[in-house]
Amino acid sequence: MSRSILFVAGEALPFIKTGGLADVIGSLPKSLAKRGHDVRVVIPLYKKVIDKYYDELERIGTIQVHSGWIDQPATYYKAERNGVVYYFIEHQYYFERESLYGYQDDGERFAFFQRAVLDMIYFIDWWPNVIHSNDWQTGMIPLMCHAIYADDYRYQAIRHVYTIHNLAFQGNFGVDMLPSCLGLDYSYFDNGSIKFDSGISFMKAGIVYADKITTVSPTYSNEILTETYGERMDAVLRYRREDLWGIVNGIDTTEWNPKTDKMLVKNYDVRSWQTGKKANKKALQEELGLEVREDVMLIGLVSRLTNQKGVYLITDRIQEIMGLDIQFAILGTGETNAENAFAWMENEYKGKAVYYKGYNEELAHRIYAGCDLFLMPSLFEPCGIGQLNAMRYGALPLVRETGGLKDTVQPFNQYTGEGNGFSFWAANADDMVYTIRWATDQYYNNRPGWKGLVKSAMTTDVSWEKSTDVYEELYYTICNWPDN
Ligand code: ADP
Ligand code: GLC
Repeated sequence: MSRSILFVAGEALPFIKTGGLADVIGSLPKSLAKRGHDVRVVIPLYKKVIDKYYDELERIGTIQVHSGWIDQPATYYKAERNGVVYYFIEHQYYFERESLYGYQDDGERFAFFQRAVLDMIYFIDWWPNVIHSNDWQTGMIPLMCHAIYADDYRYQAIRHVYTIHNLAFQGNFGVDMLPSCLGLDYSYFDNGSIKFDSGISFMKAGIVYADKITTVSPTYSNEILTETYGERMDAVLRYRREDLWGIVNGIDTTEWNPKTDKMLVKNYDVRSWQTGKKANKKALQEELGLEVREDVMLIGLVSRLTNQKGVYLITDRIQEIMGLDIQFAILGTGETNAENAFAWMENEYKGKAVYYKGYNEELAHRIYAGCDLFLMPSLFEPCGIGQLNAMRYGALPLVRETGGLKDTVQPFNQYTGEGNGFSFWAANADDMVYTIRWATDQYYNNRPGWKGLVKSAMTTDVSWEKSTDVYEELYYTICNWPDN
């Protein structure tokens, strides 16, 4: 039976992306829409979206949104892509800035956004069965929907799913935001339900008030119940553990397809990967100023450069790693310490290591296609999209066994030949370097083993198919609860 689902998030492809959240919101709705569901997505109208897509947007209209103490206008726009309707909420002062998040007034900005999303539903008169909210930017939605629209049965009939993509970003703000920006009274702080330290937490609100909570891999769904990975939300997550599902992400396998990808110099598939990757490696070496060498193992890294991603395991051991017969191509931005270390590395190992500081979608595709090994030694990783892209492009992921990395990468077993990558368990640089050495040895001295691995990586199912089944089951479960 088909359902109507509204996805609410801070970012979504193809319009705007800072990380894996945008990949997911750009691909899961599409996969659900293909199965006949009425799926729509709503995000803020950011400056970058206006710059690139304004002409393609259709203006719906403007209403006054009652966000706490003040009324402010929200203008709604829409566009359709792949059977999914995308809505955009315009508020010049809040959203037409250089970045998406990271401002002093983030709480106020996303309080407005969430209220404007809920008001949009009656404005466009489309009543979804499910609102599927994502990450801290949208965590207040289930509570606001119940508390603010208590008299409207149409709002009360909506079921709520809340997905945690990264528990480390929680949206914790001062308590006065309750009346001033959210239109809620202090009782939700007083009763402890959204209290966090001396303030309130959007993330905690999502966890407490959604009908079901999901996170993006089974392993991460267990990890976050522990103190180590729980980011001080483990107790409330344990309280809701019966309603917590771990569903692994997929990727859009039509967008990410080495056979048709226009950003590559040569297309290839699992049968032609050897010639295909050879040509792409050569082009990448030329593009980035690496020594052009067909035989050398090229390691790639495409990532936010933050502690989460394990980048300091790498920067701690640059000399050891670069002492191997390898090349290293790094793409990303992030913490200054990491950026500086990689800039130093490029300078020290000219022609052998290169660091491209920035966000570059096309170069990312070319790195996945051109590299042999893709490094992702994350300290924690809710799911990870990078390793899925890498496998699809025949670059073997070398990952730490945590979260979704553990669930998607099967380490090489040299006795049976099984696996689709390499992994290590302990979060320390010794184990990572040991595994890089071992992978390097396999690359040079066990070609049949390596070829088998590439073949199995490229044929690993990284699509949304299986996980879309699970999301459907989840929606059906909550929609079939009484009172709906
Ligand atoms: P996270 O969302 O935690 O950053 P994921 O692995 O889930 O990590 O998703 C990261 C996504 O962003 C991947 O699609 C990756 O290719 C992409 N990405 C990360 N950094 C860059 C960059 N500097 N340039 C282009 N794409 C990037
Ligand atoms: C977050 C996580 C990442 C995950 C992505 C999409 O950014 O850090 O592991 O893949 O969300 O769910």
